[in-house]
Amino acid sequence: ASVGRASGSLQHFSSLSTSTEDLVRVGHDYASQLLYAWGDPVSDGPRARADAGDDAASQRQQAGMHHDGMHFFPFMEYGKPSSTHGLLCINHEYTDDGLLHAGGMHDWSADKVAKSQAAHGVSVIEVRREAGGWQVVRPSSWARRVTADTPCRIAGPALGHPAMRTHMDNRGNLVLGTLNNCAMGVTPWGTYLTCEENFNGYFKAPAQASAEHKRYGINAKTSGYRWHEFDERFDLEKHPNEANRFGWVVEIDPWNPGQAPVKRTALGRFKHEGATCTLARDGRVVVYMGDDERFEYVYKFVSRDRFRPGQTDNGSLLDEGTLYVARFDDDGKGRWLPLRHGKKYAGGALTAESGFADQGDVVIRCRQAADIAGATKMDRPEWIAVHPANGDVYVTLTNNTQRGTAGKSGTDAANPRPENSFGHIVRWQEDGRDAAAEAFTWDIFALAGDPASANPQQRGSVRGDSYGSPDGLWFDSNGHLWIQTDVSASTLNKGEYAAMGNNQMLVADPSSGETRRFLTGPVNCEVTGITSTPDGRTLFVNIQHPGESPSERADPGKPTAYSAWPANQFSEAVGGRPRSATVVITRRDGRPVTG
Ligand code: FEO
Ligand code: CA
Ligand code: CA
Ligand code: CA
Repeated sequence: ASVGRASGSLQHFSSLSTSTEDLVRVGHDYASQLLYAWGDPVSDGPRARADAGDDAASQRQQAGMHHDGMHFFPFMEYGKPSSTHGLLCINHEYTDDGLLHAGGMHDWSADKVAKSQAAHGVSVIEVRREAGGWQVVRPSSWARRVTADTPCRIAGPALGHPAMRTHMDNRGNLVLGTLNNCAMGVTPWGTYLTCEENFNGYFKAPAQASAEHKRYGINAKTSGYRWHEFDERFDLEKHPNEANRFGWVVEIDPWNPGQAPVKRTALGRFKHEGATCTLARDGRVVVYMGDDERFEYVYKFVSRDRFRPGQTDNGSLLDEGTLYVARFDDDGKGRWLPLRHGKKYAGGALTAESGFADQGDVVIRCRQAADIAGATKMDRPEWIAVHPANGDVYVTLTNNTQRGTAGKSGTDAANPRPENSFGHIVRWQEDGRDAAAEAFTWDIFALAGDPASANPQQRGSVRGDSYGSPDGLWFDSNGHLWIQTDVSASTLNKGEYAAMGNNQMLVADPSSGETRRFLTGPVNCEVTGITSTPDGRTLFVNIQHPGESPSERADPGKPTAYSAWPANQFSEAVGGRPRSATVVITRRDGRPVTG
């Protein structure tokens, strides 16, 4: 099949060396600019204080912490999408409360909990390219913060379900907030999907957590955010159903700042990484999703109805359809297994006798349903990207050091490395090149590693520059595959990772597999979140958790000393402590960054 201009050729890209510098580095043909760091005002609110002394009310008007997935939504200018003016939706995945507050977690209080909740969620900011570069437009009537307290509607099969009802919401249709917003998606009708990942960590479970809670990693130990001490909503002893109201894909219409976000429950409840949308041949909407935990699954949703450009209320397309989970067979073929109420599998049935009274039960206990279906346990599915011309689908499997260890699943063809510390990227092609197909063929695009390593286990199958723990994944419109890495701070630049440098972003040619290092990040950051203007001349990239502590903080009251970024690189940054931020990358000659 012709791939047109989406050739993915790397002829415009050169390779950067690895780096341990506390800087964002790009090649000399490119320029980087700081756009929006934690604490920067969303609109006309207060600027952050260097000592983090801002209160919850200020934080509610400022960039949250830990930027992750994002997307640029262009304004229309003279009937065409603008490449100089748009809305940027940015996830704020989680907080490091040792950094977030003056005095860190000492003197833990209701005010600190409120600020922590306000630093979660999503930013919608208005951005414009001016003579001096990109600027956040302030004030802006479009600008908005969605936080862990913003009322969100519930839609789909779990709407009104008994397991979704709480003391505060006895009809099960409204929940306060979205949290742990990791990766994202963009619908064909131009809304933003923000995905709730590690929601389990916010809840205090009873000493005897239920099997349902345990399947999602909720146990008495996981309450490190300490919200439950001052907000009883997060105490499952008092409000056992509250945790069922998180772990969803949430739709935000950036063009309707007054509209409540909507939790689209037909897409299943799990530790959602992203929600990558495409269209089936007949116009039905298809959403690809990973559940990021060791030995969890890859899912897709296919809408019942077709997308019709111009129709209103497209969001309801995400409420009716079929949720599937993937089985990757060892012969290179695969099946999409429907998680439909009433369906019977060799491993059990999704019926009332097995505890699934209706489709609401299936989506709320999606992981248990997928277990019954016999899906393939993967090495931590992260982002998913669809090739813009041929529809091939790529998923990052970031790592899984427990693969093949005592008591855990062994290797299989799709997860072939024992104690997989570098991760890999799997690719599949849907039968008939139709995203709605129930079968596919797959292969391994790359086993991450260092091609120069003397140890064959560490070499992987990368052609070009080394990397490990791939996480963010995105196609530009020219068919380049961009790979962002998330090596944890405890592993970075040590042991097997000694030669790989700080976390980074690479660009790959999907046909040749060749990979070149494009950007390196500051000390102990993760590089995650990427989007571009329609003309490809501006890339927006997020730098998350610079200076992350490699282990539990010795003193949670003191800011980390591992990184001084971005104030050490950009004079306009508020200093005092390291800050996650959105960075703008352009080419110095003004040509598209995307080649
Ligand atoms: Fe939030 Fe799976 O990364
Ligand atoms: Ca991620
Ligand atoms: Ca990380
Ligand atoms: Ca990750």
